[in-house]
Amino acid sequence: MTNTLQKLQDLEPSREEFQAAVLAGLRQAEKSLPCKFFYDAEGSRLFDRICELPEYYPTRTECRILREYAGGIAAGIGPGARLVEFGSGAGVKIRLLLSALKKPTAYVPVDISRLHLLAAASSLAKDFPHLAIAPICADYTLPFELPPHAGTQPDNTVGFFPGSTIGNFTPQEARAFLESARRLLGPGSSMVVGVDLRKDEAVLQRAYDDAAGVTAAFNLNLLRRINRELMGTFKLDQFVHRARWNDALGRMEMHLVSRCAQTVEIGRERFAFRKDEAIHTENSHKYTIAQFQDLAREAGYAPQNVWTDPDNLFSVHLVKDATPAA
Ligand SMILES: C[S@@+](CC[C@H](N)C(=O)[O-])C[C@H]1O[C@@H](n2cnc3c(N)ncnc32)[C@H](O)[C@@H]1O
Repeated sequence: MTNTLQKLQDLEPSREEFQAAVLAGLRQAEKSLPCKFFYDAEGSRLFDRICELPEYYPTRTECRILREYAGGIAAGIGPGARLVEFGSGAGVKIRLLLSALKKPTAYVPVDISRLHLLAAASSLAKDFPHLAIAPICADYTLPFELPPHAGTQPDNTVGFFPGSTIGNFTPQEARAFLESARRLLGPGSSMVVGVDLRKDEAVLQRAYDDAAGVTAAFNLNLLRRINRELMGTFKLDQFVHRARWNDALGRMEMHLVSRCAQTVEIGRERFAFRKDEAIHTENSHKYTIAQFQDLAREAGYAPQNVWTDPDNLFSVHLVKDATPAA
């Protein structure tokens, strides 16, 4: 068996970058923390548990769509694809695509969570021994380069962005991300994007505040990470997880709410919290199919096809670079 797993390209955000983002977020009048920092090793483990929860319909539903329409998606992508996955996580969904694709040439998983990425890449290398796998640990909102392709330049590069992770961006950020992904992937490239759909608020509320408290633990783990890595003094039992639907902005929000008036130190800096004051930790924007297709068009993509489940909970879009060749 050839070893096709390449060396990790390591652009993991540094402790200093994490610290700067945390301090900047907590200095604001309305405190917030960037959700990308949820994903240390424990955060990734908790996210994988969320994916298995009965209330968390997105993973189950997207996998069902990918399984059911794998043939159609593969036909839309065509043979010899080089796949670049943004926020690859446990690498479960890519397996469904890889099994259906004709002669995929390479797979580039990109994720901010280094250990989780390494474990997922090496497990995939065992199951797909003929696929070149080139993992990149990076923040995909910042510039990075794709590894040089062995031999000829691939002319079928495909971005894969499942999990409705695109919903963590505001629509403006999502447009900017799609545009920069299109430039990174190159002329004639495509993207397969998983997008959670607008739905009944009660279904969303349960999905983001499960009965077993796993989402609460995932949210609170960010404070534990700050304590460990940045010498923070958050008392985890003095903050409570809150999920709420923001109708005006079409998104689920996660917050950590202070149970009492308290002061928290991070290194030498002190942050005062009022009772019930919240730290905003995550947004999950929900789209209609037409809204997402408009966003993709504004980012220079032409929608090719979209697949959904019978209950219209989730959608998987195939979009193609529509900008004129240079
Ligand atoms: C919502 S999870 C989705 C995981 C997986 N793609 C799925 O569909 O189940 C988001 C994933 O993206 C990664 N991630 C989040 N923000 C990121 C960023 N700015 N840069 C790189 N990876 C990021 C996380 O580590 C995590 O694996």
